[in-house]
Amino acid sequence: MKKILFVTSEAHPMIKTGGLADVSGSLPKAIAQLGQDVRLLLPEYQAIHITEPVRHRCRIRVFNYEVEIRETTLPDSTVTVWLVNCPQLFHQPGNPYVDERGQPWANIAERFTLLARVAAEVAMNRAFLDWHPDIVHCNDWQTGLVPALLSLEASRPATLFTIHNMAYQGVFPRAMFDSLGLPTMLWGLYGVEFYGNLSFLKSGLGYADWINTVSATYAEEIQTSAFGCGLEGLLSHRRDFLTGILNGIDSEYWNPETDSYLAANYSANDLSGKAVNKAQLQKTLGLPVAPETPVLGLISRLVEQKGIDLFLECLSELVLMPLQIVVLGSGNKSFEQRLQQLAALYPGRIAVMVGYDEAQAHLIEAGADIFLMPSRFEPCGLNQMYSLRYGTVPVVRKTGGLADTVTDALPQSLQDGSANGFVFEEISPGALLETIKRALLVYANPPLWRQLQITGMQGDFSWDVSAQRYLELYQKFC
Ligand code: ADP
Ligand code: GLC
Repeated sequence: MKKILFVTSEAHPMIKTGGLADVSGSLPKAIAQLGQDVRLLLPEYQAIHITEPVRHRCRIRVFNYEVEIRETTLPDSTVTVWLVNCPQLFHQPGNPYVDERGQPWANIAERFTLLARVAAEVAMNRAFLDWHPDIVHCNDWQTGLVPALLSLEASRPATLFTIHNMAYQGVFPRAMFDSLGLPTMLWGLYGVEFYGNLSFLKSGLGYADWINTVSATYAEEIQTSAFGCGLEGLLSHRRDFLTGILNGIDSEYWNPETDSYLAANYSANDLSGKAVNKAQLQKTLGLPVAPETPVLGLISRLVEQKGIDLFLECLSELVLMPLQIVVLGSGNKSFEQRLQQLAALYPGRIAVMVGYDEAQAHLIEAGADIFLMPSRFEPCGLNQMYSLRYGTVPVVRKTGGLADTVTDALPQSLQDGSANGFVFEEISPGALLETIKRALLVYANPPLWRQLQITGMQGDFSWDVSAQRYLELYQKFC
């Protein structure tokens, strides 16, 4: 049995801004189900949602901070969660990365340096928890200093760094390195230094014993300048220690047969409940309740990565077609405003919800016919897998995990039964529009559409295979 300390900045259902939380809330559960001892370490933010009993475990002094570690359990699991309680740094309103006005935390480097220092203390069994992990599994730049700090320790646990997104790097001026009081020997070309600045991501990539990312295609893409965000050289240098493991989904939480957010449950054997959800979605959003009209859904952080600009450019043509569009998202203010303007211009055709809403996300997955993900890049992407599971056919760009999970509906793939969606390659509004038109043509052929839906619903996107691959990876180097 391996003992794994899983360090993350968010974990569903306790705190979530995106897919990292989904993975941190479901992969540890799947690993525990494989008989391993996995424990989560995450900051106790003010916004954290705790539903299980909590108890005090210990109090330690780390750098200049008094820290309490409190223990709870990840809901619906046996996984222990250790909360880093340091009110001075984490007890302000906002999410893990921005304050309540949406501004990035001015002290974000201090926040995640403390998380890393606490992780190192726990990893070295110096936090009075009486537990010595074999491996510390780090996730994204927020945990990038953990492998660096542990590299300074004798007889330390092994470190794995998982890249969920290369575009967020945690880069700060050199002066920040000094004020954080980090050991000077970490500075340098082979250390945390990145073009004269401090880079948390580079630290993780450089010091971890092993690196992985969340799809096989993204593992290749990030070794090129188009996707490597300046770190492609380091990644190709370390390619013998870099693998891709596709994310799974929490197939109990995202299950159309049992999902309690839905107006009706349904399965691949009986899709009739899907129409009930479609009607409910149309009704709640003020769209005409029209069973035959295709509904296109999009749920996303509204950022450039997700190809929102491509979608916006298509909209003026899409509204001329007999379809309805439903968008749920938040992020970039100009994307939010343009979407809201279009919704005001075309009521009854486009419905836009700006904000974050878990219940609506589930209803859109169930009620829409087609799901759009025109991402410029997508390390894995979870929404296309949720869509496949809910019989909502995805239209995606061929990149990262989208390329690894969606098989384009072409004559051959339709014939051999492997098609489950629509895929385009070129980053252009024209390519997206053409692909949506292709999807609408198949939608007009119900038996063929049903075949696509069922292929998607019968696919296995659970953690079964991928959690096993993580376990093999843990076993490989410790
Ligand atoms: P990313 O992590 O890059 O945002 P993913 O597809 O991996 O992309 O995961 C996004 C997750 O966040 C999904 O669970 C999705 O349903 C959820 N999500 C994104 N935006 C919203 C929103 N506005 N409301 C509810 N859920 C959202
Ligand atoms: C990131 C990526 C997304 C991935 C998620 C979980 O947020 O943008 O593609 O699915 O992490 O790994």
